[in-house]
Amino acid sequence: MADFRPPLPLRAPTPEGWAAAALEDPAALLSDHAHCEKKAALSALNLSQSLADMPRASVLLARIAEEELNHFRRGLEALQGFGWTLRPDGGNAYAKALHQQATKGLLDRLLIAALIEARSCERLWLLERAWTLNPAPGSAPWLAFLLELERCEAGHALGYRSLAEERFGAQARARLDWWLDREAEVILTLPWRSAVH
Ligand SMILES: [Fe+2]
Ligand SMILES: [Fe+2]
Repeated sequence: MADFRPPLPLRAPTPEGWAAAALEDPAALLSDHAHCEKKAALSALNLSQSLADMPRASVLLARIAEEELNHFRRGLEALQGFGWTLRPDGGNAYAKALHQQATKGLLDRLLIAALIEARSCERLWLLERAWTLNPAPGSAPWLAFLLELERCEAGHALGYRSLAEERFGAQARARLDWWLDREAEVILTLPWRSAVH
């Protein structure tokens, strides 16, 4: 597999060993990820309300919401295919810890969305790599799905960052630099579980 280059310069690479821990309970991992995709769709729609005066933002956010909803549906179908049920949403401590530090309204919402997408992208790549090195029977369609998700989430990270820069200019670049440190602190303190973060 080619080396991974995150769409944003994340400052705390996920340690070796994370993917194996996350894959310990694949039903929980997939279930949690389905909830994440649903929340990503809702977040894109909410942001589109706040950026309704920017035509490019409206179209981009509608496309992101559509893609996230598609990922949500396919996550649910994958659960069903395995005979697993969607577990109750246990919440996302990572996203919550980031939002707790937000003080700059729309700018922070856009940058947090970009960071969550970038981290998801890194971790999807790690899951792909774990499966490629240790292929489980029947994992080929999974790998294709993960690869598609990873590429999509990379595009979303760049899209959110570009919207932040378009709207807030140099302030967005300075604030992203600040957020990259906060994101690194948060991701390093969270316990590993069968979830993307
Ligand atoms: Fe997604
Ligand atoms: Fe995404």
